[in-house]
Amino acid sequence: MTPPDYEYLRKLLRDHSGLDLSADKQYLIESRLLPLARKAGLADISDLVQKMKGGSAALITQVVEAMTTNETFFFRDKIPFEHFRNAILPEILRTRANRKGIRIWCAAGSTGQEPYSLAMSLKEMGAALAGWRVEILATDLSEEVLEKSKAGIYSQFEVQRGLPIQLLVKYFKQQGELWQINADIRAMVQHRQLNLLHDFSQLGVFDVIFCRNVLIYFDRETKANVFARLARTIEPDGFLVLGAAETVVGLTEVFKPVPDKRGLYRQNNVRAAPARVVNVSAVTPELVAAAGP
Ligand SMILES: C[S@@+](CC[C@H](N)C(=O)[O-])C[C@H]1O[C@@H](n2cnc3c(N)ncnc32)[C@H](O)[C@@H]1O
Repeated sequence: MTPPDYEYLRKLLRDHSGLDLSADKQYLIESRLLPLARKAGLADISDLVQKMKGGSAALITQVVEAMTTNETFFFRDKIPFEHFRNAILPEILRTRANRKGIRIWCAAGSTGQEPYSLAMSLKEMGAALAGWRVEILATDLSEEVLEKSKAGIYSQFEVQRGLPIQLLVKYFKQQGELWQINADIRAMVQHRQLNLLHDFSQLGVFDVIFCRNVLIYFDRETKANVFARLARTIEPDGFLVLGAAETVVGLTEVFKPVPDKRGLYRQNNVRAAPARVVNVSAVTPELVAAAGP
């Protein structure tokens, strides 16, 4: 791959998915995109770039999806799910007692382990949520992971990662060497393709947003831009949950950490200036900076 090929791919990935590759990630591109190039009957990455420049939208989507990291597992990092059960839900049950409704958004749900972990946690609440309207929306940039999430079918290896055995027995059915999560849990999760760089105000307002292990791939300005727009799509007393290696500190004033609750954030009562949506076709550092908090 020539340096101009690498720069072309870097910019394209940044514009289309927010992925911020440093100047030395050629090996990552080679390892993820060479198989895709070969499958498309192309000799190498330079040929792939030529074909993309020729305007192949389908190929661009494949390239963007191939470069996303979809790593996830049930009850990943445990602590956020303990906070969900022990801090978030008790408060929501109290504050939404009249409305009897809860809206949850998994903003990068990948193959479904995160939204289904939340669905099982809610199911485990039993009678406490009887008569409540519970909505879990799982979105992701990648159609491929969403299809797997919708099917709710996992390998033995996947169900052994993080899922307590009693929940496996209770909420999954074995199908040969695979396991499918039961229909009633699947029905609790709605799926939708969504790029966090695009406008998501049409989704409405949520009580809880899990946005974990995705912003870590974005540059500072893009993170700040997404935080500013997340703040507009969360209830004033709602909860934002980030990944273990993610924080708002030093990036935005619109959210603040909840003391003693790692990974949990709430609005800071500082209303951000309107945040512009990052336009795929015209992402420039100036635009992103201008749209910041
Ligand atoms: C590492 S996974 C995290 C999954 C889950 N949230 C967790 O923490 O286990 C990151 C997911 O973010 C998605 N993603 C990457 N860029 C995105 C974007 N711009 N908009 C929405 N989703 C994106 C990827 O497709 C991938 O499924």
